[in-house]
Amino acid sequence: SLYPVAAVVLAYLMGSLSFAVVVSRTMGLADPRTYGSKNPGATNVLRSGSKAAAVVTLLLDALKGWLPVFVVKTWGEAWGLGDGTVALVGLAAFLGHLWPVFFRFQGGKGVATAAGVILGFDPWLGLAALATWLIVAFFFRYSSLASIVTAVFAPAYYLFGRHVAWDAPGTQVLALAVMGLLLVWRHAENINRLIAGTESRLGSKKKP
Ligand code: G3P
Repeated sequence: SLYPVAAVVLAYLMGSLSFAVVVSRTMGLADPRTYGSKNPGATNVLRSGSKAAAVVTLLLDALKGWLPVFVVKTWGEAWGLGDGTVALVGLAAFLGHLWPVFFRFQGGKGVATAAGVILGFDPWLGLAALATWLIVAFFFRYSSLASIVTAVFAPAYYLFGRHVAWDAPGTQVLALAVMGLLLVWRHAENINRLIAGTESRLGSKKKP
């Protein structure tokens, strides 16, 4: 059947909507690829000074990860789509955010989209990841550090919580591990800045 292929392609196209760029353009703000970390993501949009734009970016980038996972998980069976396709559409949305077909394949780091995918896989796992991010961000005030720590912890939570807190299909554990690895890799520049002590803290505006 071609349904799994169609679902994965649709999820990739949704992931390719770089909402940091779309929302900034719609709200008449500068292109996030031109200032701060140059990353098209909610954290960098926040550096424009517009909290509203950052929140909308965060929610829409998360939604595009959550929606395909939720739809396939909830109604997929009728189309012959199982757990494997749930994992693949989540991964496809995430990959779309990193390498968007609509933006010359120059995308973001995937934090918000991964959060949406995780919430779709399992709401409790999503909340555990969200709590991890918030705790690190609260104490250290680095969005990037919180993202990196969560990227490492979330697959571990999912793996060790199997059959205890949630029922985690192997394909989804694998998808989380792949996303975690790509997330850390996309933060290479942030890691260098964290080590050098030059990473910008949440709430402090960075000059372009
Ligand atoms: O949203 C990605 C975040 O972890 C880091 O973003 O702009 O500080 O590189 P940024």
